[in-house]
Amino acid sequence: MCGIVAYTGPRPALPVLLSGLKRLEYRGYDSAGIAVETQERIAIRKAKGKVSELVKLLGESSDLETSTCGIAHTRWATHGPPTQENAHPHAGGKQGIALVHNGIIENHRALREKLSSVGYVFLSETDTEVLAHLVDSLYQGNLVQALTNALKEVDGTFGIAVMAHSEPGTLVVARRGSPIVLGLGEGETIVASDASAIIKHTRQAIYLDDNDIACIKGSELDIRTLDSGTVVRPASEIDWSADAAEKGGYEHYMLKEIFEQPEAIRNTLRGRLDRDRGNAILSGLGLSPRELSDLHRVLIVGCGTSMNAGLVGEYAIEDFAGVLAEVEQAAEFRYRNPIVNPSDLVVAISQSGETADTLAAVREAIDKGALVSGLVNTVGSTIARETGRGVYLHAGPEISVASTKAFTSQVSVLLMMALKFARSRRMSQEKGRRMVKEIEDLPSLVEAVLAKNDEIAKVAERYVDQQSAFFIGRGYMYPVALEGALKLKEISYIHAEGYHAAELKHGPIALLEESVPVIALCNEGPGKDKTLGNVAECQARASRVLGIVTEGDEEAIATVDDHITIPACPMHTSVIPATVALQLLSYHIARLRGCAIDQPRNLAKSVTVE
Ligand code: F6R
Repeated sequence: MCGIVAYTGPRPALPVLLSGLKRLEYRGYDSAGIAVETQERIAIRKAKGKVSELVKLLGESSDLETSTCGIAHTRWATHGPPTQENAHPHAGGKQGIALVHNGIIENHRALREKLSSVGYVFLSETDTEVLAHLVDSLYQGNLVQALTNALKEVDGTFGIAVMAHSEPGTLVVARRGSPIVLGLGEGETIVASDASAIIKHTRQAIYLDDNDIACIKGSELDIRTLDSGTVVRPASEIDWSADAAEKGGYEHYMLKEIFEQPEAIRNTLRGRLDRDRGNAILSGLGLSPRELSDLHRVLIVGCGTSMNAGLVGEYAIEDFAGVLAEVEQAAEFRYRNPIVNPSDLVVAISQSGETADTLAAVREAIDKGALVSGLVNTVGSTIARETGRGVYLHAGPEISVASTKAFTSQVSVLLMMALKFARSRRMSQEKGRRMVKEIEDLPSLVEAVLAKNDEIAKVAERYVDQQSAFFIGRGYMYPVALEGALKLKEISYIHAEGYHAAELKHGPIALLEESVPVIALCNEGPGKDKTLGNVAECQARASRVLGIVTEGDEEAIATVDDHITIPACPMHTSVIPATVALQLLSYHIARLRGCAIDQPRNLAKSVTVE
């Protein structure tokens, strides 16, 4: 949520800051700003709207082009609406300090009152300006000291980059709950809230830990913790290339990421399936054979799309392994004081590895003594580090706000988990081998759906003008219905709800009429006939029904009004081709409606606030 980029080194800072902001725009895009050092002062420029508005504004500021140190921010509004005044950077005092911040300062009101009472004048409604003035009020010639002291007074979360006019070429950065990564270049450092902003310049990176504060001048780094001395944080290599974060000829990142799924799943599966033994190799889970067989329950936590993937995991783990499994909305987990036993495995699912609610659930589960593992895409992210064990997705960077390839990779891992847990219990080697084969087929199932992209685009034309839609499914298709509805609403702004097909009769059916279509997951598998019965109920209320059906299933094709076919496969693996079909459907509907697909309104890629 929000993006930070900062630069210190020999090169002009502005191009690095602006290209970094462009990369980070998917994290927040309602306003943007930069602050760079000049001889006389720190110059701040801010604009409402996308980074392109800021670029236009800067077109008139050639005096800033030679500066070699600066900070920049793209915002997703929390405190105060998206206006130029509320955009970051914020100046402390009389512009001797400039600061950008991700996260939330919870005690900002009390601090604002205190600073106002000693003469500080506030120009914005943000919690960040409070921090900028607080640093200024404590500044006595040493920015690290001033920020350290300021952060002692602060409750909340932060990723911060700050500069002082009296310390040229120097950046001070700190983190608690909001990521900061330092990109190590030749005589230079590029700071960012996300590796995608630095990958163009270097693949060597240091990820700060919570409560770290770093003073950076060119390539000189001094990293400390907020309450003790210097610490050494190892550098690691970013394992994906700058190209992976480009659109690569696609109109949108979302479409590119949908089409990347066969490869992303192959990467997720690579080296993790043992054909001979009919088992999955998930050594990152760090479970001893004893812990595996003692496993009492698997608790899965996540938000949004990751939670929907978790629901597939719940079904598969119970279905194949006979182990109790429950998925829980991560935001609810810590507040309802759940029962967690030491023999429970808590699996936290997160593409970004930074989602605040999922992270809080992880911490709660650790405090309660459970085994906790992460199922995360972003290497080095907070959830990956705090869980210390787990399975990386290796799906590659996901830039589009709507999650696509992360979901299918998450489901792939959860199917492997189900296999592993099952094999440590009653599943035979022969059944295990069959399941390995089914999982290995996933990339080609996705390819078969992608080949129907043009057909799906045509079907989409019939659903462009609706204001509301329902997605229904049973069994493994129920989470797919939830995910399909989430995708449609977030990128096309059509109101969409996912329901269990049987649940529709318990209320929502009241809303069905000609202008409210139903997307029914009625591919082959247990429950298909019942779902087709529900389709008839919807049609009887004049709703048009689009069915996701199995290739060659003439009965289903004849029942529904429109259809998209997916290849024949077992129900648990059909989750993936069925979801891909719905991703494409949503994509084309949103494109035809002229929506900002990669950056839907009000959303941000990584939700680091509660
Ligand atoms: C939907 C979407 C969100 C995320 C949710 C969790 O397309 O992207 O619902 O799935 O914000 O994010 P992560 O997986 O990063 O924890």
